[in-house]
Amino acid sequence: MKKINVIGLGPGKSNFLTLEGIELIKKSAVLVGDERQIESVRDFIQNQKIFILKKFTDLILFLEEQKEIELAVIVSGDTGFYSLLNYLQQNVSKSRLGENSEYLNVVPGISSYQYLFSKLKKCWHDYLLMSIHGRDVNYVELLKISNKGLVLLTDNINTPRTIGEKLTENNMGNIKIIVGENLSYENEKIYSFLAKDYENYSDFSLNIVILEKGD
Ligand SMILES: C[S@@+](CC[C@H](N)C(=O)[O-])C[C@H]1O[C@@H](n2cnc3c(N)ncnc32)[C@H](O)[C@@H]1O
Repeated sequence: MKKINVIGLGPGKSNFLTLEGIELIKKSAVLVGDERQIESVRDFIQNQKIFILKKFTDLILFLEEQKEIELAVIVSGDTGFYSLLNYLQQNVSKSRLGENSEYLNVVPGISSYQYLFSKLKKCWHDYLLMSIHGRDVNYVELLKISNKGLVLLTDNINTPRTIGEKLTENNMGNIKIIVGENLSYENEKIYSFLAKDYENYSDFSLNIVILEKGD
């Protein structure tokens, strides 16, 4: 019987992992994740085999080939918010894992946006949540119909600076952009600027942004 534990890491610092997640990481024979995720769970690595994930497509073959009974795939933030979970559901079939496999066991984590809102001491239920990480989303239009604003997962093309530029081009230069950078790590930075000032902001970092409409 083979079981794949999909474990939400939380924003990154190991203090934000759940106790259930830690227990399963310790118990699993194999740990899979990207470099940042594996580094974050370093304190819980004993004899587990480590597989650093570089390409999604390597994952399925690797999981199916493993003889070990219990494996853990570490995903950042929460398992239910733009994680590898969908991909695993669609590509790892129960039959390919072996007879009677328990298949996927999913343990949620704290999402990067939940963490950021907690730091801002605010609720997030009036904001639209989405990802422009590798996706083409018309966030300008969505911002117009949102209640208080949008929360966006970014990537190295859709950065706080390019988002500010796009809003400005669309006559939304007065939107406040709140940036949560390297959340939970020692170099965490939370700051805000008006979209029209985008030129003063650098391009690359691990971050999420909140586009906040005025009252
Ligand atoms: C593939 S998505 C995964 C989102 C994750 N499931 C969640 O709930 O936060 C990766 C994106 O999440 C955001 N992210 C994840 N961890 C972060 C952190 N510690 N600080 C800032 N942004 C983070 C970044 O926008 C990154 O590009």
